Amino acid sequence: MTELILALDTPHGADALRLLDQLPVLHWVKVGSILMTREGPDFIRQLTARGLEVFLDLKWHDIPNTVAGAVTAARELGVSMATVHTLGGSAMLEAAAVAAGGDLAVIGVTVLTSHDSPNYGRAVGRTDVDLGHEVERQGLVAIAAGLQGIVCSPQEVSLLRGRLGPEPLIVVPGIRRRSDPASDQARVATAKDAVMNGATHLVVGRPILQAADPALAFEEFMEEAR
Ligand code: C5P
Repeated sequence: MTELILALDTPHGADALRLLDQLPVLHWVKVGSILMTREGPDFIRQLTARGLEVFLDLKWHDIPNTVAGAVTAARELGVSMATVHTLGGSAMLEAAAVAAGGDLAVIGVTVLTSHDSPNYGRAVGRTDVDLGHEVERQGLVAIAAGLQGIVCSPQEVSLLRGRLGPEPLIVVPGIRRRSDPASDQARVATAKDAVMNGATHLVVGRPILQAADPALAFEEFMEEAR
C-alpha cells in the first residue's frame, strides 16, 4: 500500500504537534529545513516517541565525508528516511548509502517539483531540457550508487517505475486534489494518478496544513491513495 506522508512545513513545532493531535491514523511525517532549523533533533525525538515514522528531508548536497556524517547522525536519531540531492554525484551518493547501512532509507532527490523545463534549464545552463529524461538519468545514477529510492514529481513516476523496476522507493511530492492550487509547484498530479503509476510514498503539505478541516483533507487524500 502507498504511504501518505504529511510534510510538517509549519513555522513552529507546537503548531505541528497540535495538528498531529487531530490526525491519529497518520503514520508518516516529513520534517524539512523549516522545523529542523527552528526546533532541532529534540523535535524529531518527540515525533518518534509518538510512534511516527520520520522522513528527514534536508536534501544534503555536500562533499562525501560531510554527507556520510549527516546520514550517520540521522540514523542515530532514529529517522526512517532521509534525502540527498542526486546532483551531488556518485561518490557522495555511495558514501550516503554506506553510512545508512540497513537501518535508514536514503533516497535521492531528482529535479525539484517546483521546476519547469525553462527554469531548470536556466539553473543548469542548458536549453530545452526534457525533464523526464533528466529525472530518469538522475534516478538511474542514484540507484546504481546504492540508494534505496528516489524523489520525483508525479509526472515522472510512470517512466521511473518502468526504468527502475519494482524494488526502489518512489517518493512523490506535488500531490494535489483537482480543486487545490498548485502554489509554487510546477509539476503536480492527483494522489490517484501517482499511486496508479507506481509511487510508494506520497508527500502532501499545504493542502492539508492550510485546510479549514485538516482531518477531513487528510481523509480525502487517504481515500484517493487507496
Ligand atoms: O505543500 P506541498 O504539498 O507543496 O509540500 C511538498 C513538500 O515536499 C515540501 O515539504 C517540499 O519541501 C517537499 N519536496 C518537494 N519537491 C521535491 C522534494 C521535496 O516539493 N522534489
